[in-house]
Amino acid sequence: MDDLRRQAINVLTRNARDGYTAPACGLYTHQHLWDSCFIAVGQRHYDVRRAMTSLHRLFSAQWHNGMVPHIIFEPGWRYRWDSRIWRSRVSGYAPRGVATGGISQPPMIAEAVVRIGQVLPPGQKASWYRSVYRPLVAYHEWLYRERRGHGNGLVLQLHPWETGLDNTPPWLGSPGHDHGPWWLDLMVATRADRLASRLRRDTKYVPACQRSSTVEALRLYSALRRIRKDKYDSAAVLRHPPFAIEDLTYNSILVRANTLLKQISQDISELLPAGLDSAMRENEQALETLWDQATESYYSRDTRTGALLKEQSIAALMPLYSGCIGGSRATHLARMLADPAIFGAPYPVPTVPLTSRWFKPACYWQGPAWVNTNWLIIDGLRRYGFTAAAEALRRSTLELVRKSGFYEYYDPITGRPAGVRDFSWTAALAIDLMSAPDHA
Ligand code: GLC
Repeated sequence: MDDLRRQAINVLTRNARDGYTAPACGLYTHQHLWDSCFIAVGQRHYDVRRAMTSLHRLFSAQWHNGMVPHIIFEPGWRYRWDSRIWRSRVSGYAPRGVATGGISQPPMIAEAVVRIGQVLPPGQKASWYRSVYRPLVAYHEWLYRERRGHGNGLVLQLHPWETGLDNTPPWLGSPGHDHGPWWLDLMVATRADRLASRLRRDTKYVPACQRSSTVEALRLYSALRRIRKDKYDSAAVLRHPPFAIEDLTYNSILVRANTLLKQISQDISELLPAGLDSAMRENEQALETLWDQATESYYSRDTRTGALLKEQSIAALMPLYSGCIGGSRATHLARMLADPAIFGAPYPVPTVPLTSRWFKPACYWQGPAWVNTNWLIIDGLRRYGFTAAAEALRRSTLELVRKSGFYEYYDPITGRPAGVRDFSWTAALAIDLMSAPDHA
């Protein structure tokens, strides 16, 4: 067996918990939604049962309104504080007996379900699909019922943590985000934020310069408190939302997830609910409304102002993964990927262009290359027939992991590792990238 593959399996074995695989030891011990999906995509190659169990576990914590929460907290006193921040029980929709987050994350579940299906014998594949079909439909229905954007078919997100790209510039730079709440302004004025920095848990594992600033983290915490105050009820939150953004990455992933959900329903001869079917079609068409002709790029939209958030980030390439854009748009995105003034980098793909005023090579989602976003781009390139570009990115991604280890992210200029080590989705997706491509 290839040495890298063996090392990757070792990482995933070390991060294994009861029924799921944690993103990493120490900093991220709870089950996360999109992490579990990326992990399952790799795990299916050597332990498909574990991959299936972890997706079933995600659905075991599904809220009664259909939402699949972004985190399922490990029980036990050690993690009391983590789940107390969220207090999911304030919502009547939260399941009892399990503590969860109160928001969701990019809907990668359909992708993981289909990838698992690809390695199962036909009879088992159908029963696997049947075991997840209803909760998966309920999840997609929840998105269109509760998170409709400003009526154009897109879905909106209430917090950057829902996009999985926590400190991504379009969100950080969105109107009204750079000041308040009053207590935070006071903290900054009195420099009390420095004191708060000492209480941070993440910087005990990762150098502070590789994470969001303390002020930024507190601002996002304050946004979460506002959502929690409204008991995670989307309609109530939307009366005065801290954020309400039709996120480009989220919507691109949802469009792809819809295609896969349709495929699942056909494979098991189920008919999707009519309302869901038309919502999916509208969503697909609406992605094009995020295109800006003047700058020739896709962006997220702030529904409070109706304006596109014209700050360049990795999201611009995600419509490739959606699979619903036209060939000429896809060609344009493939060019952006190679362009050194945009996403072309020695160790691609930077999450923010090297030329952006936001670019920080080792800071979280503000510049570093991540293996999961690379994987999404590779998948999109392959489906549009950009085989050489997909292959080049697959090779450079594996080279980066071979050279620097299974880290959370990497400096796109030097290839140096950053964030936490032994990160599960890096290991899992490396296994997948080493395996023969699937044809979904
Ligand atoms: C960070 C990432 C998020 C991920 C989580 C667990 O918060 O931004 O995308 O799900 O870590 O790995």
